[in-house]
Amino acid sequence: MGKGLLITFEGLDGCGKSLMMRKLGKWLRTRGCSVETTCEPGWGEMGQSIRKLLLNSAFGSVDERTEALLYAADRANHCAAFIRPQLEAGKIILCDRFFDSTLAYQGFGRGLDLDSLLALQNFAIGSVRPDLTIFLRVPVEVSFSRIRGKKDRLEQEDKEFFERVLAGYDKLAAREPNRFRVIDSGGPIDQVFSTVVKAILPLLKG
Ligand code: TMP
Repeated sequence: MGKGLLITFEGLDGCGKSLMMRKLGKWLRTRGCSVETTCEPGWGEMGQSIRKLLLNSAFGSVDERTEALLYAADRANHCAAFIRPQLEAGKIILCDRFFDSTLAYQGFGRGLDLDSLLALQNFAIGSVRPDLTIFLRVPVEVSFSRIRGKKDRLEQEDKEFFERVLAGYDKLAAREPNRFRVIDSGGPIDQVFSTVVKAILPLLKG
């Protein structure tokens, strides 16, 4: 797909995705790369509206298929209106969450059928595929301890839910070792960051 690179960041809430993306964006830009950072859910005005629907705790428990479809709707628009054209323009895109979040949270967490979710992802994203997926791994306890402020609807789930999500990420990573890099994100920031840089270096060669 195009000339650019799509690098996605995955993990539990509080795993350090945003910080690592910011640091990596800066690191790449100082080396002359043309970088875009983005996130899901919530790209553009429509994405922001979908994000509000998804994370509004006032809705309480929402039908899990509805939830999966809303994430997919946001993703389809994000790919069509932003990711695909930026890749075609040769950009390096750093994306905070992508379809693995749906497989981990709605598939392993909620218990929706993985094959159906995969078919839905293919429908939503077409030929867009991540070149690399950085899974920043922290235990559930660490994730809980790092969540600040009022919890959104998803963050209010119990520990068992997040244990399933984490185990799901482990399975997804084991299934696609060429695409995934699993990085222990519990240690010092500089150490985690240097592992992230090492992981992306092979993509930059040439
Ligand atoms: P964020 O806090 O990383 O912006 O993500 C919002 C929440 O949405 C987070 O708890 C993970 C969840 N989520 C899913 O359940 N499925 C998805 O496909 C995505 C993109 C996020």
